[in-house]
Amino acid sequence: MKHLLSIADLSTSEITSLLELAERMHRLQGERVKKLPDLKGRTVVNLFFEDSTRTRSSFEIAAKWLSADAINMSAKGSSVSKGESLRDTLLTLDAMGVDAIVMRHPGSGTVAQAAGWVRASMVNAGDGTHEHPTQALLDAHAMLRHFHSHDQGDLAGKLVAITGDLLHSRVARSNVLLLQRLGADVVLVAPQTLMPPAVGTWGVRVVTDIDEVIADADVMMMLRVQRERMAHGYFPSEQEYIEAYGLTVPRLARLKPHAAIAHPGPMNRGLEISSAAADDARSIVLDQVSAGVAVRMSVLHHLLTDH
Ligand code: NCD
Repeated sequence: MKHLLSIADLSTSEITSLLELAERMHRLQGERVKKLPDLKGRTVVNLFFEDSTRTRSSFEIAAKWLSADAINMSAKGSSVSKGESLRDTLLTLDAMGVDAIVMRHPGSGTVAQAAGWVRASMVNAGDGTHEHPTQALLDAHAMLRHFHSHDQGDLAGKLVAITGDLLHSRVARSNVLLLQRLGADVVLVAPQTLMPPAVGTWGVRVVTDIDEVIADADVMMMLRVQRERMAHGYFPSEQEYIEAYGLTVPRLARLKPHAAIAHPGPMNRGLEISSAAADDARSIVLDQVSAGVAVRMSVLHHLLTDH
């Protein structure tokens, strides 16, 4: 594996191997000394052109726990704000001899394009509305841990309802690709206005009524309403969105006892997810965050060693 750009590029054995190593890396979180020597002497640059809390800090922690040197860069404060092109920025970093560049960018396809310019391994940490492969891997890891802890087996045959702003969601795209590969039944739930135009070709069930699936779902994955990508109204009002698509208290009562409530974060509490749902015993939101470190350690390990 040279780069991680899209879930579609991964073979089934690579997916298995990434998730298995993530499981081993997860144990480090419980140790007092969180350090493995595996990436000593390697340099990982986080290059973020969009805001991030979880993704950026977990990549940094992952690199550090593996003993790599980690450097954070954002567009603000770099020469990009002086007008330097993306290609020149990447060639500059590459010329310094860095080993991996973890990049987030608002342009769909830009990380794959950048991979053609550099010698370093590129990791897609979210490109526009296209993909976010490490998020899907960490979601799978957190769901698997949830099912294992409830003696529910793995993802095969589980009903995963991905709900909300599908139109702008790179998380949904990567999750659909990965969950299908892992044998889950995926159902997409959103108002017609927040459905991607080509959703009919994704090979999964699509519904506009959340109440059709709520009682059967093994996972309710709620997506953030991405206001920053919305130029105009996609639904009549927030109150109507909450009533039609929010994981509200009455809907929470209809969820299976062992269902998992997932959200990639950041959450709009009180909009797509009620506080009661976010803090419910079935919520795996913080487990997803922990899984993020383990999965990103596994990804960096796969890219930068012979593992
Ligand atoms: C997501 C993203 O940036 O794509 N967040 C994340 O990485 N945890 C989803 C979002 O912004 O809503």
